[in-house]
Amino acid sequence: MTTETTTNSYGLHHSILPSSEGLYGEFGGKIGHPELAKAMEEIEVGFREIIKDEDFIAEMKRLRETYVGRPSPIFHARRLSKHCGGAQIYFKREDLNHTGAHKINHCLGEVLLAKKLGKTKVIAETGAGQHGVALATAAALMGLECEIHMGVVDIEKEHPNVSRMKILGANIVPVSRGAGTLKEAVDSAFETYLNELDSSMFAIGSALGPAPYPEIVSYFQSVVGREARGQFLETTGKLPSKVVACVGGGSNAIGIFSGFLGDANVEKVGVEPAGEGLDTPNHAATMTLGVKGEIHGFKCYVLLDKDGEPAPVHSIASGLDYPGVGPQHSLLRDMQLAIYESATDAECLEAFMALSRLEGIIPALETAHAIAYAMRAAKDMSPDETILVNLSGRGDKDIDFILDKVEL
Ligand SMILES: Cc1ncc(COP(=O)(O)O)c(C=O)c1O
Repeated sequence: MTTETTTNSYGLHHSILPSSEGLYGEFGGKIGHPELAKAMEEIEVGFREIIKDEDFIAEMKRLRETYVGRPSPIFHARRLSKHCGGAQIYFKREDLNHTGAHKINHCLGEVLLAKKLGKTKVIAETGAGQHGVALATAAALMGLECEIHMGVVDIEKEHPNVSRMKILGANIVPVSRGAGTLKEAVDSAFETYLNELDSSMFAIGSALGPAPYPEIVSYFQSVVGREARGQFLETTGKLPSKVVACVGGGSNAIGIFSGFLGDANVEKVGVEPAGEGLDTPNHAATMTLGVKGEIHGFKCYVLLDKDGEPAPVHSIASGLDYPGVGPQHSLLRDMQLAIYESATDAECLEAFMALSRLEGIIPALETAHAIAYAMRAAKDMSPDETILVNLSGRGDKDIDFILDKVEL
């Protein structure tokens, strides 16, 4: 069980660390408005300071243990494994975190950073509402104002999360332009932020955006991979054959992958939304069908329209409905350190129901993409092989939406 010890001083594997320009190979960077560049520098300096600060480290540890409920357990999905035949499927239960998803891992860090920078407000986008809920939660805990931009389509679809954010005291800004989904919510949130740079901090919802955001988010999410590697070894005596996670922007995937990047014999698989099919225009399979391009201040694989602008995309899961992807994943793909597969809306619904009925776990629609791939892959693997899926979130937010889509 060899592991390269090529991590930096705070534990991230060298393959997902940026250059001083915030580049991951040719991806990432800080593209855009000069005012924004100044704000990014302030955030980067603050981030580098807090991660060395003993008080900050102790506070994160306390909150992870007593507020989030970490470490999240590893669960052996015996009935689902039996149903599929072949490999044994395990879950890293990020759905059991306070607020029901992995997003709280980076939100606590982002809000502590905003406080350290003397900001009184955090601003963000949300798709499925999980990042919005986690940020509103962390802001309530630490006494900061919180403003969440959300597409009108997602507001309708994910209304339980909208109510939660409102109860937590967040101000919701509905975004109706364009497709009224995640990309437009990011545009709108960045525009507001540019007018409030002194008093607020943009608290991005995934491992993307201009530098230093991908590094910050992956740093706070890496706790998932670190815990998972140790827990899996303890539970099974070996490493998993595959580590699987859904990919929207890439935060839960980079979190769990980061624990296994030194393990060449563990296959890392990101699962993108194939929507209504890769042969239709209605998908968000950025890695599978995208090209190298720019979006929201950084370079990555991106789906473009005929005018070279980010294309309108589709996924049944609002949190995966984005035409770009994090720069670290773009590089991991090119270096063949991870592979990227896809699952359709229909496969996602099937996996959603299978997990609910076979294990009593209702997953988020985003997460159900990773489960769909694991169910497909398990069938072709031998019983002594294992798949570890990052169960990134629970599906309470999706239950009303799902009732129209499946027969009960
Ligand atoms: C439960 C859950 N999983 C996954 C995602 C996708 O985001 P990411 O790729 O950043 O993990 C989301 C986004 O909203 C989510 O809510």
